[in-house]
Amino acid sequence: MAMLAVAWLLAMAAHAAEPIRISTQKMDLIMQVNGQGRLVQSYLGKRLLHDSDLGWLKEGREVYLTHGMEDYFEPAVDIEHADGNPSTLLRYVSHEVKPVQGGKETVITLADDQYPTTVRLHYVAYEAENVIKTWTEITNGEKKSVKLAKYASATLHLDREAYYLTAFSGDWADEAHMNTEPLQPGKRVIDTKLGTRANMFTPPMFILSLDQQAGETNGECIFGQLGWTGNFRFTFEVDNKGGLRVIAGINPYFSTRTMKAGETFVTPEFFFTYSQEGMAKATHHFHDWARNHQLKDGTGTRLTLLNNWEATYFSFNEDMLVGLMDDAVRLGVDMFLLDDGWFGNKYPRQSDTQGLGDWEETHSKLPGGVGRLCEEARKKGVKFGIWIEPEMVNPKSELYEKHKDWVIHLPGREEYYYRNQMVLDLCNPEVQEFVFEVVDRLMTSYPEIAFFKWDCNSPITNIYSPYLKDRQQHLYVDYVKGLYSVLDRIKAKYPRLPMMLCSGGSGRIDYKALEYFTEFWASDNTDPVERLFIQYGYSFFYPAKATCAHVTTWNKQASIKFKTDVASMGKLGFDIKLSDMTEQEIQYAHEAVANYHRLHPVIGDGDMYRLISPYEQQHAATQFVSKDRRHSVLFAFDIHPRFGDKLRYVKFRGLDPALQYRVNEINLMPGQSTWVKDRTYSGDFLMTVGLDILSAGSMKSRVVEVVAQ
Ligand code: GLA
Repeated sequence: MAMLAVAWLLAMAAHAAEPIRISTQKMDLIMQVNGQGRLVQSYLGKRLLHDSDLGWLKEGREVYLTHGMEDYFEPAVDIEHADGNPSTLLRYVSHEVKPVQGGKETVITLADDQYPTTVRLHYVAYEAENVIKTWTEITNGEKKSVKLAKYASATLHLDREAYYLTAFSGDWADEAHMNTEPLQPGKRVIDTKLGTRANMFTPPMFILSLDQQAGETNGECIFGQLGWTGNFRFTFEVDNKGGLRVIAGINPYFSTRTMKAGETFVTPEFFFTYSQEGMAKATHHFHDWARNHQLKDGTGTRLTLLNNWEATYFSFNEDMLVGLMDDAVRLGVDMFLLDDGWFGNKYPRQSDTQGLGDWEETHSKLPGGVGRLCEEARKKGVKFGIWIEPEMVNPKSELYEKHKDWVIHLPGREEYYYRNQMVLDLCNPEVQEFVFEVVDRLMTSYPEIAFFKWDCNSPITNIYSPYLKDRQQHLYVDYVKGLYSVLDRIKAKYPRLPMMLCSGGSGRIDYKALEYFTEFWASDNTDPVERLFIQYGYSFFYPAKATCAHVTTWNKQASIKFKTDVASMGKLGFDIKLSDMTEQEIQYAHEAVANYHRLHPVIGDGDMYRLISPYEQQHAATQFVSKDRRHSVLFAFDIHPRFGDKLRYVKFRGLDPALQYRVNEINLMPGQSTWVKDRTYSGDFLMTVGLDILSAGSMKSRVVEVVAQ
């Protein structure tokens, strides 16, 4: 211990005067060591222009607050030492800066001078994309176990006039509602304790406007997201001086960890960006960063598809599926995706009440098995994808009969089922192996499988791990670590395999998961009007190529065109039988798919601009612009305009004012006329005056393509 104190004193002498500056092109996070050797945050915001000013920054508040000492607010870390002392005091020891892929990493080491507890704060600054990724490592250097009751990933401090928090909330088929509120003194907590389907009611992301509510093109804001596919917690605490402390991390609810001697706990990563120019810029930061550094195959294209779920539900046979592959061919999509209902023999999966866990093709339904389906798909020139839900089990299954010890369940209590199923105990390495093999066996037997839809329909219920025995408080965290270890193996063995993350819609979505998944299913609700809101909500953080959107029979009043135009703002798919569509609609859809493929560099890889929010008007409009600003596509929607609704011109954004653009309406129904045909406008005109493309019709849509001359 004395050694540590000496190390600290030496380090202090060397570094106390130097601010630690973590910068991207447009943002600065600045810390320093105060007179007591404590690390404090002095600044977070727009990048400061002159190094010479840094010395004038005030000290600020402690970066990583500990429990038990003199601070009166929510701590980031809470450790009970082996001798029962519940306090920790962290002092600066050293820091280092090194280049890492895509950015620069700063690691700051802090240590307690009475106990061998070390905390390492990591910050990776992605300079070009203006995102900072931060996480913490906590090491128990004691000779015995300690109890870790709180272990935040990060704390950010702000001192502003006012703070407006935009949170996201929802439910099944009702995801990503945006609610904005001014933060008042005291705490506002956003958290979840659902375990697997962790984000069913709220995803781990927020927007914070500073001083005043930010708009799309004005105001200061911070976007934050925790990369953790499980229980999370954000605490926003406005203190007695009006300072805001944002603490992001795993939800400590029922999750006190026993750390063995020498053990290090690594927290999840917290990602954030700052924009001085409104929310559109912050969105561009997140989208660019995700594509370049986080999302699986972030810069690659995506497979358009036809899914059989809503076309057949569980009632299908081989011939029907082969027939649907013909539909996929007629639509011109890349892939046919076989959904739930293909497995189970003792308990065939005819409904969601049985068969889950028994990953063998149902012989009566699919006599030729997955092999025949792959072969038919190959003959027809489409790829083949398949649905799995490998973390779950129906009590009515062979897996449950054989391996009750693999199921999370409370001994001696009646079982509670969510969607008639239970969660497998991924804390157990044997279960991890089983889950890995679900994918690996399918891939080894049928290497032509080109895509997985990985579902997860139940939260963790009956919360007890037979594997963890007397360490039940480790369940929530170890489950997620078990899941990641399976996904790591899958990614290592099948690095290019596209996979969709699904959880009864988007009940589980975050940027750590998207390291393993190329995309996510935004909602089971495919009513295009609802989708305008749901996709709008997710668009703040996720690029279109990651946000799966399908055309289905939901909302019988909406046209196929309206539905397809909405779905084309995400990763386009169909979940419908062509026999439910007219010839004209099929022709339209075929052309819309071709347009979608052609426009991938714009929609998938370009900058997104939310021009009209469906929350504000009975209209919505979103525009995508290629990175070179020469190609753009605008989607405009009339939802249910009221009588006398004022139809404003829609102004473009992100174009080059000096360029001339050829403007055409695309995605037209066969025979549909339009005045937006082969006209040439300057970028200046399109952005200043705009186009008259809204209408008073109900559920009408227009897609306008703009190409520089
Ligand atoms: C979940 C998914 C759906 C579908 C069904 C199958 O609800 O969100 O898309 O795959 O499961 O049971």
